[in-house]
Amino acid sequence: MKLKKSVKMILIIIVVIVGALVMYKYYKRNNNPNSVSQEKINETLKFVKDNNIYDEKYKEEYEKIEYQDDKDFKDILVTFLPKGYKGEEINYILKLSDTNINKLKDKDYVDISNYYNYKNFNVDNIDRYNKYHEEHNDYSYDKVITYVNIKLDLPVYTDPATVKDGNDLLVLVNKYNCLEKGYRPSDLDYASGIYGNVPMRKIAKEALTKLQEAVKKEIDIELLPTTAYRDYSFQSTLYNNYVKEDGVAAADTYSARPGCSEHQTGLAIDLKNPIRTDVRLNESDYAWLKENAYRFGFIIRFPGNKEFITGYQEENWHIRYVGMDTAKIIHDEDLTLEEYIDLYVNQY
Ligand code: DAL
Ligand code: ZN
Repeated sequence: MKLKKSVKMILIIIVVIVGALVMYKYYKRNNNPNSVSQEKINETLKFVKDNNIYDEKYKEEYEKIEYQDDKDFKDILVTFLPKGYKGEEINYILKLSDTNINKLKDKDYVDISNYYNYKNFNVDNIDRYNKYHEEHNDYSYDKVITYVNIKLDLPVYTDPATVKDGNDLLVLVNKYNCLEKGYRPSDLDYASGIYGNVPMRKIAKEALTKLQEAVKKEIDIELLPTTAYRDYSFQSTLYNNYVKEDGVAAADTYSARPGCSEHQTGLAIDLKNPIRTDVRLNESDYAWLKENAYRFGFIIRFPGNKEFITGYQEENWHIRYVGMDTAKIIHDEDLTLEEYIDLYVNQY
């Protein structure tokens, strides 16, 4: 039988479409992190039987659980199924860190389905994530996790943590994390500034010298430090004066309370172009700094679009030394130090 050319074409198209659909389904199944392979399920059933922990009432759940031999699989099954976790939720639990699994063991059933996939998910904070998400349902879950981990859901200065190691180049000092009153860096050096010598940590001074050479060469301006390291009592005087002038609420938007200023770390530097009068850098000077500070290991610590995270109004003159690798990531991914530490440093 001879088929018409057009009918042949239609048949070919149908075959191609069906083929593509089959391949797509196969691809999706093998690349979806949540898909469960039949082989792994059979292994789970075999495992629970071999280990004498098979319980008829969990039969349907076993059939959804992907066997794993690199975690305490048996312990997870006997701990979490009786708490009411479904088979697919056991798969989520199997993806968590040991620390999170141990924390979850101490809790009654909680729904982790919106959170388990994020590496900075901290089981300790789950109730706060849920509350914060209710209050900010326009935020994605990854933002909810990060913002709660940073403590944006808590009032500032109520119970600040004491910084463990003030010498750490990644030390985070803000309205939730403050230094001991007597903390003073042991390697202070001096850079020449607009109003005299300016103390700062040695590594920050060396990086600043390179930044100054580059800005001179590239846009022919000078950027000189006004202040950098400030001890507790210096910060106290500054803050108290601002409070007298402006009141607490306003002062808190631009000045840190003593102990909670990163100037006390010796890694923060306020810069000024000596030919200008304004404290703020002008647009073109700042444009260079914003795009280039990271090359020398500095970040813009209080950018204009992140005030709700840093807790401060934009300060386009305040840079903070964090080291080259960190500065590059913060620059490239448009992060704050708070977000960086939560996403890249803290382990949950
Ligand atoms: N101006 C910054 C926030 C400080 O006081 O540390
Ligand atoms: Zn500053």
